[in-house]
Amino acid sequence: MSILVTGGLGYIGSHVTLALLHSGYPVTVIDNLSNSEYDTLATIIDLASNELPEANPEITFHQLDIRDHTALEKLFTSPDSQPPFQAIIHLAGLKSVPESLENPELYYQVNVTGSQNLIRLADKHRVPTFIFSGSATVYGGIVPQTGYQEDAAQTVDEATHMYGQSKREVELLMEEASNLSRLSSHQQLNPSPSHPTHSEHNNIPTKFISLRYFNPVGNHPSGRLGENIRLEKATNLLAMVAKVYCSQDPSQKLSVFGDDYTETPDGTCQRDFIHVTDLAEGHLAALTGAISGQISNTYQVFNLGTGHPTSVRQILDTFQSLSKTKLPIQMDDRRPGDLPISFADPTRANQQLGWFATSSLETAIRDVLSRCKYFA
Ligand code: UD1
Repeated sequence: MSILVTGGLGYIGSHVTLALLHSGYPVTVIDNLSNSEYDTLATIIDLASNELPEANPEITFHQLDIRDHTALEKLFTSPDSQPPFQAIIHLAGLKSVPESLENPELYYQVNVTGSQNLIRLADKHRVPTFIFSGSATVYGGIVPQTGYQEDAAQTVDEATHMYGQSKREVELLMEEASNLSRLSSHQQLNPSPSHPTHSEHNNIPTKFISLRYFNPVGNHPSGRLGENIRLEKATNLLAMVAKVYCSQDPSQKLSVFGDDYTETPDGTCQRDFIHVTDLAEGHLAALTGAISGQISNTYQVFNLGTGHPTSVRQILDTFQSLSKTKLPIQMDDRRPGDLPISFADPTRANQQLGWFATSSLETAIRDVLSRCKYFA
């Protein structure tokens, strides 16, 4: 049985897919290619084969949109996927905050309705594990001294944009599905004619897991996988730094959105920057935890972050020192909606999954530098 990875050719998805292949899992990728490229499939296969020559990467790809319920249903019932997947790792979705403010309906359709389609199919076919790409965007307010803990998520109504709202709504859908699923398993053990059961399938409820990512940075050390910085909507800090640096265009400037935050030591915002390969390993740890029974709850949330805040200025200083260049930086107004400080308390993932972020910021920046040649 393979692992279904939705959005498996995207920035994070491609690293997750590669990590799964490295661990010997057969993978089925679905992706609508709206924010990724078909060529990434060949790159993943090439990297997996080169890095593990003795292994034979098993990967299947379908260009498919998660809003297309009929196509998804077909995938789950096709003879090739019988029984259906061993796990679903669901990363397909839209992720630009400004775009979600301009087009909330699109964000709702893709991120919420698309996820709902998958949650229903996971439950209906009793896929043992469902892992979702959650986000630290569900937190807000003042960060505690030890970082955000999982129970600090805001309500759907508190979200200030549809991107954040959609991430929280999907978590609630997962929680609801897990409650209903447990109830129906209980009824199956104590059947009542008036309640539907999962009679045609095994009766073990799906384990739903949300992994709340903090700020993903870096890429595969070869530079061959990673964020597509050519895209206009790639506006996160490291993508903007890479855009300015890799373009070598002196007219391009990097805006720093605010250096007058009294809450932080140097006046710029602080974030929890986590290497994307550590993030990918977090998915494997969650998958292993679910399979081994280490994760026993049918709904569980984990922060994936380093637990350490790093400021925008620290990032820029490190980048300039490693690249031996001076970036054209301009100080700008604060960006509306920015939190002064956001970082994870990753204790739960450390303790329950045995997972730790191990890559340094320097490594992430070196990796970004090695990717530049692909954008020359
Ligand atoms: C953003 C999203 C958040 C999402 C997260 C991860 C907003 C308001 N928030 O968070 O919902 O979960 O990405 O995808 O968009 N910065 C600059 N110059 C730049 C770009 C960024 O100074 O050109 C600063 C920002 O003001 C911020 C920090 O760098 O202080 C990090 O920004 P960014 O990478 O966009 O991530 P978040 O703000 O954490």
